[in-house]
Amino acid sequence: MIVYFSATGNSRYCAQMLADRLGEDLTDAFHFVRDGIQPELTSTSPWIFVAPTYSWQMPRFFQEFIRSGAFSGSREAYFVLTCGGETGGADKSLKALCQEKGFVYRGLLEVVMPDNYIVMFRAPGKEEAQRMIQAARPVIEAGAEHIRRGEPFPDKKKKWGDSLKSGPVNQGFYRFFIKSKAFRVTDKCIGCGKCEKNCVLHTIHMEKGRPVWGENCTQCMACICGCPVNAIEYGNKTQGKERYQCPPYEG
Ligand SMILES: Cc1cc2nc3c(=O)[nH]c(=O)nc-3n(C[C@H](O)[C@H](O)[C@H](O)COP(=O)(O)O)c2cc1C
Repeated sequence: MIVYFSATGNSRYCAQMLADRLGEDLTDAFHFVRDGIQPELTSTSPWIFVAPTYSWQMPRFFQEFIRSGAFSGSREAYFVLTCGGETGGADKSLKALCQEKGFVYRGLLEVVMPDNYIVMFRAPGKEEAQRMIQAARPVIEAGAEHIRRGEPFPDKKKKWGDSLKSGPVNQGFYRFFIKSKAFRVTDKCIGCGKCEKNCVLHTIHMEKGRPVWGENCTQCMACICGCPVNAIEYGNKTQGKERYQCPPYEG
């Protein structure tokens, strides 16, 4: 079974393509996380967890979702992280998570896709994004082939700085950067509430027809990139920047 989270569609695309190639069931973690429901899932085939990369790690809340869930049946776990550049040393904590859960770690597949982190960087334009997604497809295809053959994903070459990025830098990032305070809505807001519905941590609520951000934000970019009228900004860091949504998977 493939279990995934996706804020702007990259990881969903990847999960859907894997499901297609492998004939696997797909489970979206969104409602479990949002509604605070501990998953109780069963799979006879290996678990395949698909998610974005946040500061060179699997998102903390998604790790917590796996940690707190009951996953019965297969004891094998594959991990697929989509990213805008690289996953650093994310494998280390995934191996530890497997040990905790009694899973056999079957490797981490890094899939480079368009970067959605517009609070810090720029998302590519539509053409460049399409090109990147096309380039990611053979990587996903090869990953599916490893799973089909029952092989682990090949080990990623270790790079200098991997453990620094996924370790202290990740911790500093969560402590100092991941804040919701600077999110604001402009006059363009039509009060549709899509941002509230798309918020996996249930941080946004509507007040007088306008979104208000609470503190428990992971900056997944679902609100700002999913706004139908581009009414959400993050301080002045996102002004004039392209919003990113992965085009739908069409086979
Ligand atoms: C908070 C945050 C942190 C991110 N950190 C990284 C990172 O450390 N390395 C990287 O390559 N991409 C990083 N990205 C980019 C995303 O991992 C990437 O665009 C991913 O494919 C988005 O997946 P989604 O569309 O399924 O949400 C980050 C994005 C966000 C929102």
